[in-house]
Amino acid sequence: MNLKEFGIEKDKNDVLKSFKSRFVNNPNEIYLDGNSLGKLPKISNAEISELVKNQWGSKLISSWNDHWLKLSEDISLKMSNLINSKPEEVLVGESTSVNLYKIIYALLESNQFKKNLVTDCLNFPSDIYVLDGLKHLTDENKLTILDYADEINCNYEILKKSIRNNPGIYCLSLVSYKSSFLYSMKELNEIADKYQSIIVWDCSHAIGVTEIDVKKSKIKIALGCTYKFLNGGPGSPSFLFISKKIIHQINNPIQGWFGHQNPFNFDHKYIPSKNISKFNAGTPSILSLLPIKHGLDITLEAGITNIRYKSIEMGEYLIKLIKEELFCFNVEIASPEKSKMRGSHITIKHDEAWRICKILIKGNKNRKKIIPDFRPDSNIRLGFAPLYTSYTDLYETVITIKSILKNKEFLLIDKTKNLVT
Ligand SMILES: Cc1ncc(COP(=O)(O)O)c(C=O)c1O
Repeated sequence: MNLKEFGIEKDKNDVLKSFKSRFVNNPNEIYLDGNSLGKLPKISNAEISELVKNQWGSKLISSWNDHWLKLSEDISLKMSNLINSKPEEVLVGESTSVNLYKIIYALLESNQFKKNLVTDCLNFPSDIYVLDGLKHLTDENKLTILDYADEINCNYEILKKSIRNNPGIYCLSLVSYKSSFLYSMKELNEIADKYQSIIVWDCSHAIGVTEIDVKKSKIKIALGCTYKFLNGGPGSPSFLFISKKIIHQINNPIQGWFGHQNPFNFDHKYIPSKNISKFNAGTPSILSLLPIKHGLDITLEAGITNIRYKSIEMGEYLIKLIKEELFCFNVEIASPEKSKMRGSHITIKHDEAWRICKILIKGNKNRKKIIPDFRPDSNIRLGFAPLYTSYTDLYETVITIKSILKNKEFLLIDKTKNLVT
């Protein structure tokens, strides 16, 4: 069986194949950017209209009591099912960057850990900017960014040595946005515990597509975007998990009314809620929260074990295709080769990466548009979302890239255009 036939066979036997029809799809497009912005579930489309028309349009303020105040709780419950936490350990609200700021500030103020901030070169720039903006609260006015030999794999020796010799507050992205490197969380959390450190896990590229069990992995704090593999919609609020073991030790630096024990008593004195809701600040963004509920429902129904299994199988298949079809055109793989060390995208490198992306996105009358994303300097991220990406999509993508390279089609694109894809 060749790789094309193998892909067709895998699609036929795919236990998740029916889930694609739950999303709004464009039949002339292969979407490989679900690791950046997930697709729109059809049910969210309908439910947002109902919310706007009836709950907001007609029932106005009474919808707070009838629908909206319960919405956050409902989502926290679903999220806690996904990560095996208690519902009162999770909230959903604000962006990942804002939640990271609140958490790092809270940890630095708590005096529970050495006031020392560390991250690594695989982390997402926004996280690094947030940490850098808080370094004035550390003992040495410093943020340490660990450098590894490349930006593909974490060097565990360097990271573990740092935790041992330089304990404090660490922030790592569970799946690295560029290379897709997936950390071994449990082992690192145990080392952190042993050396009076804490790791804050940014799970933006992992949630909804890898198995995250906060109990088994001994996670104390995790957060991340819901608009990627959870399909919550553009800018949907992030989730924040704080273990019960540490919630009472830290305080939200933003003392807003939704973090108050009794916000509707309108007291002048701020008394923080006893549970994770103390990390709320202002009024929840109802329009942005609603689709997260449906994204979570679909994920829970499909089952995270099935999703992860398919993601691994797709990754293995894509690597084989890249090796067989693209290596002879100077394409390199810039992701870990072992599936257990990888999330749900694979990054390839080529000097003409940007122009290749432009050509893929354009499509033509003989082939579908293909949507990957470009990351400087020369990376193309191919994200596969097991709920709606097929093996045949991956096959068609690789064959299209091969044809672009073989026919030097990328020369049709002006190299000097702006770099935003
Ligand atoms: C790993 C990671 N962390 C943080 C962010 C920033 O999230 P937000 O825009 O919700 O602050 C992103 C955005 O893509 C991301 O990929």
